[in-house]
Amino acid sequence: MITRRTFTSGLIALSVAPSIFIKKATANTTAYDTLPIPPILENISDQKGKVKYKIAVEEGITEFIKGVKTSTLGYNGNLLGPTLRAKKGDEVEVTVINKLKEETTVHWHGMLLPGEMDGGPHQRIAPGKEWTAKWVISQPAATVWYHPHGIGTTAKQVYWGLGGLFILDDEVSTRLNIPSSYGINDIPLVIQDKRFTDNGEMVYLTNMRDIMFGMMGNTVLVNGAIEPTKIVPAEMIRFRILNGSNARTYNFKFDNGMTFYQIATDGGFLEAPVKLSTLRLSPGERAEILVDFSNYKTGDTVSLEDQGYKFLHIKVEQAKNIHYNLPDKLVALEKIPEHTATNERYFSLNGMGHMVNINGKKMNINRIDEFVKIGSTEIWNITADMGMHGMMMGQTSRNSVIHNFHAHGTMFQIISRNGKTPPLNEQGWKDTVALRNGERVRVIAKFQHKGLFMYHCHILEHEDNGMMGQFSVS
Ligand code: C2O
Ligand code: CU
Ligand code: CU
Repeated sequence: MITRRTFTSGLIALSVAPSIFIKKATANTTAYDTLPIPPILENISDQKGKVKYKIAVEEGITEFIKGVKTSTLGYNGNLLGPTLRAKKGDEVEVTVINKLKEETTVHWHGMLLPGEMDGGPHQRIAPGKEWTAKWVISQPAATVWYHPHGIGTTAKQVYWGLGGLFILDDEVSTRLNIPSSYGINDIPLVIQDKRFTDNGEMVYLTNMRDIMFGMMGNTVLVNGAIEPTKIVPAEMIRFRILNGSNARTYNFKFDNGMTFYQIATDGGFLEAPVKLSTLRLSPGERAEILVDFSNYKTGDTVSLEDQGYKFLHIKVEQAKNIHYNLPDKLVALEKIPEHTATNERYFSLNGMGHMVNINGKKMNINRIDEFVKIGSTEIWNITADMGMHGMMMGQTSRNSVIHNFHAHGTMFQIISRNGKTPPLNEQGWKDTVALRNGERVRVIAKFQHKGLFMYHCHILEHEDNGMMGQFSVS
């Protein structure tokens, strides 16, 4: 019997805001003990420098809690998807087969590619149909991901299980002496919260609050499992963390308070490891961290948690005689000089619930909101304001992320947060940035990929409620 702690849900939370609340739930027996590791998908090309993948979008059945089966969605399986992997310079070709009874798309979140390969709302795949995306990897090593992106259907399709990782390698990631054995000392963690009823059934959108702030569950899944355990060697371990949740922002920490080092952001390595004791990730954001277990004894257990809810247990075993030193330099990052920007734009993320909008507008697939010149550098100013609804709710804690901003087709650098230099671990390439109520973020980006792209709040219920716009790069 495993005791499961859960986040609270339900209407009580309405008066208290979108942050995290813990309650002790009824004990349940979870179906998994060990952390599942998404398999790396087989490359079906035999040509050097070519990577060919096939993925089927399927309906499935998953047993999260012993004896209770829930309908889910998955890529090549019942839930989530395999990890895709390619290196800089590779020609990638992915064929997607839609076996669902409804339309879907597959968007490569964080991938730099032409608009028509982006897998956004324009690259619709009808039920029973196929879509092939082809592009050349032109960006540095990073942990990016893929998920559906239909108009009004993204949130539920992701919630029911569609999402996977896409790992990119390059000369830097291969040269650095850091853990890189996939699933052994380089461990992917897809973190998602879901709501389970007392019977162990997974449910979606069951109260008003879900519409206001986005769907927040009462249970955290790691790679699709409830409170699993991962056995690691007593050495330096790398975790690639994706917040694949619909709406929840996490403040990750270890239950013993140990520090760790963030080495990569959404778009790849930071200049140098950044020492942290808490890591905040809003939906869609990724981070790679290094955690040193070399002084731990066999049998020691440390848990990854957020506000006392421990959702991943890490159990240390004998070292495998690999000794890693924390590198003091990771990569040289060139700052985009502000004076090279030829245009500034303003994006104001407003409202809550059905009222969400960007600059007073809701997504319209027949309207292009912004036109950007190919090859140009621009500064984008992003603000977030909860508006009347937020005021009425009143108590949103100052630390709560209320919206975030994600742009396709480029990576950006954060120039400032509320007029100040951003924290060290935000001084790398980003494609998604979190905002608290009233915050102002200034970012700079170069637009090198042609086509039509989306920008939106990555709280998926907000995105589906129209908190999205389109920009064309030509
Ligand atoms: Cu991860 Cu436009 O999305
Ligand atoms: Cu994206
Ligand atoms: Cu939002």
